[in-house]
Amino acid sequence: MMPALAAEEETHSRAVTALIRERMAAAGGWIPFEQYMDLALYAPGLGYYSAGSVKLGPGGDFVTAPEVSDLFSRCVARQCAQVLAAGGQILEVGAGTGRMAAVILESLAELGALPAQYAILEVSADLAERQRQRLEKLPRELRERVVWLDRLPERPIDGVILANEVLDALPCRRFTLRGGVVQELGVAEADQTAATHGTGFVEREAALDAADEELASAIAALLHELPSPLPDGYASEICLRVAPWIAGVAACLSSGLMLMFDYGLPRAHYYHPQRTAGTLRCHFKQRVHDDPYINIGVQDITAWVDFTRVAEAAVACGLDVSGFATQAAFLLAIGIEQFVAESTDTVEHARLAGEARRLLLPGEMGEAFKVMALTRKCDVALRGFALQDLRRSL
Ligand SMILES: C[S@@+](CC[C@H](N)C(=O)[O-])C[C@H]1O[C@@H](n2cnc3c(N)ncnc32)[C@H](O)[C@@H]1O
Repeated sequence: MMPALAAEEETHSRAVTALIRERMAAAGGWIPFEQYMDLALYAPGLGYYSAGSVKLGPGGDFVTAPEVSDLFSRCVARQCAQVLAAGGQILEVGAGTGRMAAVILESLAELGALPAQYAILEVSADLAERQRQRLEKLPRELRERVVWLDRLPERPIDGVILANEVLDALPCRRFTLRGGVVQELGVAEADQTAATHGTGFVEREAALDAADEELASAIAALLHELPSPLPDGYASEICLRVAPWIAGVAACLSSGLMLMFDYGLPRAHYYHPQRTAGTLRCHFKQRVHDDPYINIGVQDITAWVDFTRVAEAAVACGLDVSGFATQAAFLLAIGIEQFVAESTDTVEHARLAGEARRLLLPGEMGEAFKVMALTRKCDVALRGFALQDLRRSL
């Protein structure tokens, strides 16, 4: 059962829906899914990430690895420490509640590898406020290293760039195959006979826009390259924003490591013929479902990451793809079990063991989540990738 919307959520959702309806009318009654997702998540002052819902954590819509357990951030800190041994900074993109930043700074202080600065780039004003409240509690020596940016830094940094569950939040295009022809999936008003989703929006196909060469050529290249043909009616996502996003962030890295965690797959697995309905997922009050046309503006919408696309984009910017592993392999290689073993208190030990299982088990977050290391002028043998390297699968 999907929880009902509270009165203020209902009001908020109606305002977001009205904005989308307005844009749809101006565009002739249909907008591509990417535009719909962009408005639902990021419309200024209204979208899910731009407005004030709780979003992350047990009282919100979903729980990310840094929210599941500080063990995750302590492991990430150890990987950062290896690269920061020669000095440098950290830039975290999309820092959520700020919990990972806090734990990383505390861990790096213990390891004697503090960054000169910990910069956070956050698009969500209310999450940035939560980050400030969380990080204000740090000792002064750590707190003073944190700065918030409203755009990517102009001067490239030496050090580490971190992004946990950010790529999956980039708006994506959706497409389907009909009789060998690619159609784009978008959103339209439901007519009275069509099944409506309460909001009155339905998914509708449209011929690819002849002027939109980027989408046509990206899908053509994809279909050409896949090892098996895709069946008729197959639907999936393609995120064309990955390449410009990676290019923007890569330009900020003079030397060091970019570490990206997200749920995703190499391309041949992502577009497997049996994955006929794509990877789109919505999160609302800890429920995961696949209907982006309900709870508009008050639920998260995500799609899995095609890590082959990330790697291609990185190589095009002159970065090296230095590691690709499951989250479990990364955390184990760093030594997550040592953190659990160090705890001598029985109750705490049991809690940490439970948290570690959630981060590591294949049926939980261990296998679906991957981590990719992109480097520039960095000859460190990255510890997190010592147990597994999935680069050949890209
Ligand atoms: C799913 S949350 C993950 C938050 C946090 N990294 C964690 O793991 O708990 C996505 C985060 O990315 C931010 N975000 C989304 N798109 C972004 C963009 N283009 N640039 C910077 N941050 C972005 C969101 O506001 C949010 O903080």
